[in-house]
Amino acid sequence: MNKTIIVSNRLPLQIDISNDKLRITPSVGGLATGMKSVHEEGKTLWIGWSGLKEEDLDDTLTRKVDQAVAQEHCAAVSLTGKDLDNFYYGFSNRTLWPLFHYFMEYTYFENIQWESYKRVNRKFADMVLKHTDDGDTIWIHDYQLLLLPELIKRERPNASIGFFLHIPFPSYEVFRTMPWREELLRGMLGADLLGFHTYDYERHFLSSVRRILRLDTHFNEISYEGRTIRVDSFPMGIDYRKFHNAAIAHGRQNEAQKSDLQKRLDTHLLSTPGAKMILSIDRLDYTKGIPNRLRAFEYFLEKYPQFREKVRFVLLAVPSRSNVPQYQLLKKETDELVGRINGRFSSVSWTPIWYFYRSMPFENLIDLYTSCDVALITPIRDGMNLVAKEYIATRVDQSGILVLSEMAGAAKEMNEALLINPNNFEQIADTLKRALEMPVEEQAERNAFLQQRLERYSVDKWAGEFLKALRATRKLHHVMVSR
Ligand code: ADP
Ligand code: G6P
Repeated sequence: MNKTIIVSNRLPLQIDISNDKLRITPSVGGLATGMKSVHEEGKTLWIGWSGLKEEDLDDTLTRKVDQAVAQEHCAAVSLTGKDLDNFYYGFSNRTLWPLFHYFMEYTYFENIQWESYKRVNRKFADMVLKHTDDGDTIWIHDYQLLLLPELIKRERPNASIGFFLHIPFPSYEVFRTMPWREELLRGMLGADLLGFHTYDYERHFLSSVRRILRLDTHFNEISYEGRTIRVDSFPMGIDYRKFHNAAIAHGRQNEAQKSDLQKRLDTHLLSTPGAKMILSIDRLDYTKGIPNRLRAFEYFLEKYPQFREKVRFVLLAVPSRSNVPQYQLLKKETDELVGRINGRFSSVSWTPIWYFYRSMPFENLIDLYTSCDVALITPIRDGMNLVAKEYIATRVDQSGILVLSEMAGAAKEMNEALLINPNNFEQIADTLKRALEMPVEEQAERNAFLQQRLERYSVDKWAGEFLKALRATRKLHHVMVSR
């Protein structure tokens, strides 16, 4: 029987070891949380990195890790400290990530890191080949594995290979600055179907294929080495029912069942008449626009002093890629800004910003989503942004307002949110005021549309549509070959 294999750099589970004991927690990030719902049906094998360094594992620990991941229908690719430095922190997160998010000033082009990227993609290919036969379906994810489709296609020409990019594909003018642009595009073209979150990313990719590889494209099809490759946009959804039902269950909790976090949130809301809460949740990443957001909130408190003592901003940032210098600088800048704003505006009974720098379990995310009146999501550039969708899914009574950056892929499908330019503080401050004062009827009207759409295009629908399109592309290929 043909199998379906998912491949991504990071597995959906994160393993930590202390005193020879394994602790397993879910991975954070849109790719892992989104695809997990697809994988949980139990019919797929997921190949990826466990989050551990090869040098930290002796034979016994390696066996334990392999067993633990196998129980979750996963297989682990092992990465050395060098791989992590050059492939993960290096080419993936100091070259591709900043370039594809238009942070050209943060982008490093280093040959050692490129060589490592090629080597690690080869490592992933070997693992995939070990677990697959020629007729299998292989679904590869994201920017860390751009060379993998070609490496597999060469050895499994009859496998159906899909590739999905979870981050933006930049415009040709930006992509062309990449020294290894041809190799990267050819690597991606090993796939039969290439998927992007939005039509704009798709068209940027096609434009690079035409102008860099000089290939002809016909609408969204590319003829390449005797194959027809399809390119399409598939905006990723969330597991709507999971978030919505969790919020319903949360609403039924009695006092004893509430978490400590929920009790603290309640205390703020109940202690001050007219108290409101604004929420933001992201990995601590410079693409997410956290300093901008903090400065805009500071300006909001300056411009509209009537909200002081009433509005609290809950900022949840999860540690991410902390070996990369720009992430360390961002941490410092965020700490300083939070300190400055709290120092400037706090009173005996009120602190404007509650700042959490950690990962949180699912139950606490639900506490936050359901307790906050406004979600303020202001990325400078973001492939999709699932947090925006999760917030709306938990608003069971249809109250709550999403203030969302136009630069997030999610903005394309969430027109009823209040859309802002993340660099325009005046607009953000005015929009925050509008959101905090919006009549509940208008909130409900906006959220009804958003929720309907999110429920209809949930993550399983997204995955189903992608796999259906992949099958159709392969059929098209067989028809062309047999002609
Ligand atoms: P990205 O993929 O760039 O990290 P997304 O917004 O698309 O951004 O996805 C982030 C995912 O990670 C969401 O599913 C969100 O629920 C989860 N997440 C973000 N922050 C935390 C946190 N502090 N604790 C637990 N999960 C988090
Ligand atoms: C984004 C990327 C994913 C990545 C995740 C977390 O969602 O698209 O590929 O896994 O961030 O980042 P990390 O570097 O911790 O895997």
